Amino acid sequence: MERAGRGVADWSGERPRRVVAERDGPLLVEGPVEVVLDDGRVVRGDRFLVALCTCRRSRRFPWCDTSHRRRARADRADRADVDEAPEGER
Ligand code: FES
Repeated sequence: MERAGRGVADWSGERPRRVVAERDGPLLVEGPVEVVLDDGRVVRGDRFLVALCTCRRSRRFPWCDTSHRRRARADRADRADVDEAPEGER
């Protein structure tokens, strides 16, 4: 990718890097990537697909460690409790 001026990238010959936003999950980014953390440190992911944590619960932040799944399951269980409550007890 070259810079074409005015902040526009020149993608001729390449396709844009793809980022997939998972619902209630990580951002899946085609690697390798460098991530600049809020303290200025730069970490590098060398895999062809990198999962970036968006929930901030990962013990390996900025990488997703699937901790978001526990919270998503708990949320679903809470909603199921509400749905199963008899009329008038909600
Ligand atoms: S998005 Fe997976 S642990 Fe945060």
